[in-house]
Amino acid sequence: MRAQAVDQQEGLRPAGPEHLVFQLDPVPDGCRHGALPSCFSHCPAGGGRLASLSPGKPRGPLPRGGARGAGPCLALGHCGQIDCKQPNPRKDETIGEPMAINNRITELLGVEYPIVQAPMGWIARAQLASAVSNAGGLGVIETSSGRLDEVREEVRKMRTLTSKPFGVNIAQAFVRDPDIVSFVVDQGVKFVTTSAGDPNRYCSALKAAGLTVFHVVPSLAAALKAIEAGVDGLVVEGGEGGGFKNGRDVASMVLLPLVCSRVKVPVIAAGGIVDGRTMLAAFALGAEGVQMGTRMVSAAESPVHGNWKTAILEAKETDTVFLNRFGPGPALRALRTEKTSAYEKTPPENIMAEFGNALDLYFGGDMEASIALSGQVAGRIDEIKPVAQVIAETVAEFEAELAALQRQYGRAAATA
Ligand SMILES: Cc1cc2nc3c(=O)[nH]c(=O)nc-3n(C[C@H](O)[C@H](O)[C@H](O)COP(=O)(O)O)c2cc1C
Repeated sequence: MRAQAVDQQEGLRPAGPEHLVFQLDPVPDGCRHGALPSCFSHCPAGGGRLASLSPGKPRGPLPRGGARGAGPCLALGHCGQIDCKQPNPRKDETIGEPMAINNRITELLGVEYPIVQAPMGWIARAQLASAVSNAGGLGVIETSSGRLDEVREEVRKMRTLTSKPFGVNIAQAFVRDPDIVSFVVDQGVKFVTTSAGDPNRYCSALKAAGLTVFHVVPSLAAALKAIEAGVDGLVVEGGEGGGFKNGRDVASMVLLPLVCSRVKVPVIAAGGIVDGRTMLAAFALGAEGVQMGTRMVSAAESPVHGNWKTAILEAKETDTVFLNRFGPGPALRALRTEKTSAYEKTPPENIMAEFGNALDLYFGGDMEASIALSGQVAGRIDEIKPVAQVIAETVAEFEAELAALQRQYGRAAATA
């Protein structure tokens, strides 16, 4: 038996009742995780991947020392199946609530987990955003659809669906109403992200109204400009992400550590984030929070047509296109379809006109009717999951991977 105690001895977290103390069976050959949850196939009780919850099914409490519950079985080293009836084979294992994460992002946003749902026109509305906020992350309502009457109604719905904090995004390039700042302030939210434009445009007015303002940036120069404008934090978005992009795209692996080494404000990483591993990687590069776009488009509570979700599940990592790099108008990353493959080879004169009636794609499911903004991480998504499951698994995997790295590379491991 290899005893393992994850507590303050290993410097992973401070003392507290939520401490995780567990004992592991011998690590299977070739497994670098020590049979932690990412190695579901080693589970003596049956193994297998995490099964999907049916939409709306309550997550239920995490099993404590066993593996029973309404939600996915997330007991360390256990099977990950829904409604698992097997006793946990590791009798001496105890597990507390999911890992508590406390940092500047959780504090500023007032959330349990520093996981933010990306703002997305028509998609980031109450159904999706309330699921994220209720699961302990931050739901964000869009304004990029330009339908402010509908947005107002969505904010009203949010208040009936959740008592947790949520935010609003101002995608500046799409603003039609000159009173957008008053509109956002009137919604009573405390957190706003601004994107797609000059951070000086709304930052001081929003801050004067008492809001916390994060600006979305695709480069170091943009980050420094946003800091000058007085933002409270940054969303640093790598070029692998879905949506409108800087034509001179930079991947998160380069951009995040570069920006994080030059700014003092907290950073939320966007682009390619889909699970606990990618969240941990972003934290290693200096971020304190993550934002998920494509993962949320494909979530059970996302309102988009099933054809879009299926296209994400079927996409390989090479199945997005980067369009309109040289303008005019914005560059963007979208799913590869017949239409977008043609635009990749021969850019259209006006990319924005090619969106046509986007709602025929978004809610009608006609994948050739418009452009399905999505990130490269589509290649890592192969299951539609409820938001609560996405967030619970992300936090559990973040914790497990952190512990696995510590075991393999930490000082204690080196001297054992
Ligand atoms: C369908 C879609 C719509 C988007 N719309 C917006 C938007 O209105 N405002 C914005 O700031 N970002 C928007 N984005 C970018 C996301 O906020 C997010 O940063 C990006 O999706 C992260 O990369 P990922 O797709 O790899 O998770 C959109 C992304 C997608 C996929």
